[in-house]
Amino acid sequence: MRKKIVAGNWKMNKNLAETNALLSDLKTKISSSSKAEIIVAPTFVNLSNAVEKLEGTEVKVAAQNMHQAENGAFTGEISADMLKGIGVETVILGHSERRAYFGETDQLLVDKVDTALKHNMSVIFCFGEELQDRKSDNHFSVVESQLQNGLFHINSESWDSIVLAYEPVWAIGTGETASPEQAQEMHAFIRNTIAKAYTQDIADKVSILYGGSVKPNNAEEIFAKQDVDGGLIGGASLDVDSFVAIASAV
Ligand code: 13P
Repeated sequence: MRKKIVAGNWKMNKNLAETNALLSDLKTKISSSSKAEIIVAPTFVNLSNAVEKLEGTEVKVAAQNMHQAENGAFTGEISADMLKGIGVETVILGHSERRAYFGETDQLLVDKVDTALKHNMSVIFCFGEELQDRKSDNHFSVVESQLQNGLFHINSESWDSIVLAYEPVWAIGTGETASPEQAQEMHAFIRNTIAKAYTQDIADKVSILYGGSVKPNNAEEIFAKQDVDGGLIGGASLDVDSFVAIASAV
């Protein structure tokens, strides 16, 4: 059976004191009976602290990004080795905000994915269409090309380290969620695209998360869809009660 996952992408929010408060609240409130694997992705400077605070719990810590090079003169950047060195085993790559504001291209993501896999890290690979793509009925071809150009160079074995996160850009931070039917339709398309490029078995095993304005009041019906294996949560993950409610909706 596919793994259910609920991940919180905290983006550029929460200083150290706020991070600690959120983590201790989360530790108390998260139910060990949640059927989902829980992941939180604080900002870089608070990752080490999060790993320490969450030691002994089932909650995993992910980075929101990393550089593709092993090391060197890349001022301001963070490497896979640095993340692994503090106990971070998972990285979010290809988030639409990285693509839109920091110029991340499919080609760059190929390199980032390769570096992460080389370091035995798990990758939460994000992709999704913009509003104009959906309006012009190009959403399937945009998603297909993001997968083909950014991810489908990996070998079959590497799929064990991949989680997909379909995040339609028009639904991120807007309060406008894809309907459960729209999410299911796209997730089924994604699975089918993987089955065609690889095998049905690989497609059946990969967890595909939905992201974009998931809240406690809509999580259950989205997560109930057959091909939706959990969520990547932005805004609502900054509030422990909301995040815990979403995690329990899987
Ligand atoms: P929101 O849940 O705030 O829409 O953000 C989704 C997201 O971008 C998670 O990575």
